[in-house]
Amino acid sequence: MVMPSTERPTVQRIIVVANRLPVARVDDEWVMSPGGLVRALVPVLQNASGAWVGWTGIPDFDIEPFDHDGITQRPVLLTERDVDEFYFGFCNGTLWPLYHDGIVPAEFHRHWWGPYREVNRKYAEATNDVLNDGDIAWVQDYQLQLVPEMLREMRPTLTIGFYLHIPFPPLEIFSRLPWRKQVLEGLLGSDVLAFQTKQSADNFHRAARKLAGAEYVGRRDLRWQGRNIHIQPAPIAIDNNEFDTMARSPAVQLRAREIRSEMGDPKHLILGIDRLDYTKGIDARLKAFSTLLDRSPSRAHRYSLVQIAVPSREQVPAYQQLRLDIEQMVSRINGEYGQPGQVPVSYLYRSVPFEEMVAYYVAADIMLVTPLRDGMNLVAKEYAASRVDEDGVLILSEFAGAAEQLTSAIIVNPYDVEAVAASIHQAAHMEPDEQRKRMRRLRRTVDRADVFDWAKTCLAMLEDA
Ligand code: G6P
Repeated sequence: MVMPSTERPTVQRIIVVANRLPVARVDDEWVMSPGGLVRALVPVLQNASGAWVGWTGIPDFDIEPFDHDGITQRPVLLTERDVDEFYFGFCNGTLWPLYHDGIVPAEFHRHWWGPYREVNRKYAEATNDVLNDGDIAWVQDYQLQLVPEMLREMRPTLTIGFYLHIPFPPLEIFSRLPWRKQVLEGLLGSDVLAFQTKQSADNFHRAARKLAGAEYVGRRDLRWQGRNIHIQPAPIAIDNNEFDTMARSPAVQLRAREIRSEMGDPKHLILGIDRLDYTKGIDARLKAFSTLLDRSPSRAHRYSLVQIAVPSREQVPAYQQLRLDIEQMVSRINGEYGQPGQVPVSYLYRSVPFEEMVAYYVAADIMLVTPLRDGMNLVAKEYAASRVDEDGVLILSEFAGAAEQLTSAIIVNPYDVEAVAASIHQAAHMEPDEQRKRMRRLRRTVDRADVFDWAKTCLAMLEDA
C-alpha cells in the first residue's frame, strides 16, 4: 500500500523551463548571465529550492545536472543539428519573424517542424525528470510552445504556466503558420498563459478560439479539454533601483561627461541601444536621422547619434544582410555630413558592460527606441530609470509593448521616416519644463512595478491556478 506523502513542501517548488540556462560557461566556469529576468527569478528559485531546465548555449555539450547558487541546473543537450534546425531554423527563421508581424518573410520548412517538436520533447522530458508532485512548471517563450501540452500528458494534474516574451501576432498573421493548430494546442496545455501586453493576450485568445476551437469563458478565460485556462497580460519590468543607483554613482556621472566630450560635446546627443535585429528598426531610424540632417546641413554638427548594436544570431542570413545595410548607411551619413575628427553617427557593434551602458543613458539627451515590433523593450524603461535628473526625452515606437505603459514618451510610427525626423527635432527643442513633466511621469510608471513585482505577480497567478 502506498502511504500518502507527508513530506510535501510548504513552499511550492518552481521549475523554470527556458531555452537557455541562467548560467553560461566562461573560461571553464559557470557564470550567472546578466539581465533582470534571471536576477528576478534566482531568489524565487533559491527560496523554493527550485530548478532551471535549459540549454547551455554550447552544441553537443553533454553534462549532468549541477547546482549553481542554490539552484539545480538541468541541462538539455542540443546537438549541432538541433541548433541548426530548431534554434536557427524553426525558432529564429519561422517563429521570430512571424510573431514580429512578418517584418521579414517567415520561412516555412517541413524539415524544421519535426526538429521543433523533437527538441520541445527533450525539454519536456528533462523537466519531468526533475519534477516532484506539487511543483509548478513555468515555461518561457516562443522556443518552447509545445512543452505545456507535453508536460500535461505526462502529469495531468501539474500546474503549468507559460510566459511569452515576444508579441503574439494578430490572427491574420498567425494563421499563415502551417502548424498553427499544433502550436495553439501546445500552449493550451498550460493553466495560465501570460503575455507582455493586452494586445498579445487578446490576439492569443482570439486565435485559440478561431483556430483551435477553445471555448470562450470570459475576456481573459478559455475552456479547453475540460480545463479552465487563464490568459493574463503581465508586462515585464526591470530592476529600477539598480539603474537608479548606478546612474547616481560618481564614476558613472564622470564617465557620462567623458562620453559627451569624446563626441565633441554635441548640443544634442542621441542614443540607440539594440540587439542587431531587424525588428529593432535601426535602418529606418538611420534614415530618419539622415532626413533630419538633410533638412539643415549647416546645423548637422549639433546632432550626434550613438548607435550601439549588440551582435545577435550572426549565422542567420537576414541578420548578416541587415548588418551590411546598416554599416553602409552609417558610412554614407558620415561621409556626407562628417568632418575630419567628427562624425554624426558613432556606431559600435559590440555588447557594452552594464556600467558603461548606464553612463550612455546618463549622457544621452534623447533616446531613440523605434522598433518595428517588439514584445516589450526594456531599453525604454532602463533609460527612464537612469534619468535621475529627470531630464532627457524618450522617443518610443507605438509598436513596442512598452508603449502601452510609457505613454508620456513621444510616441512615433517608426515606419514614418518624416515623423521620426520631426520627433527628434521636437525632442531637441523641448522646453526643460516639458521634459521634466514627461520624464517624471515615465519614471513614476517604471517605479510602480519592478521585475521582482513582475515575478511575484506571475507566481501568484500560478499558485492560484
Ligand atoms: C528575445 C527572446 C529571448 C531570447 C533573446 C536573445 O529577448 O524573447 O527568448 O533569449 O531575445 O536571443 P537568443 O536567440 O540569443 O537567445
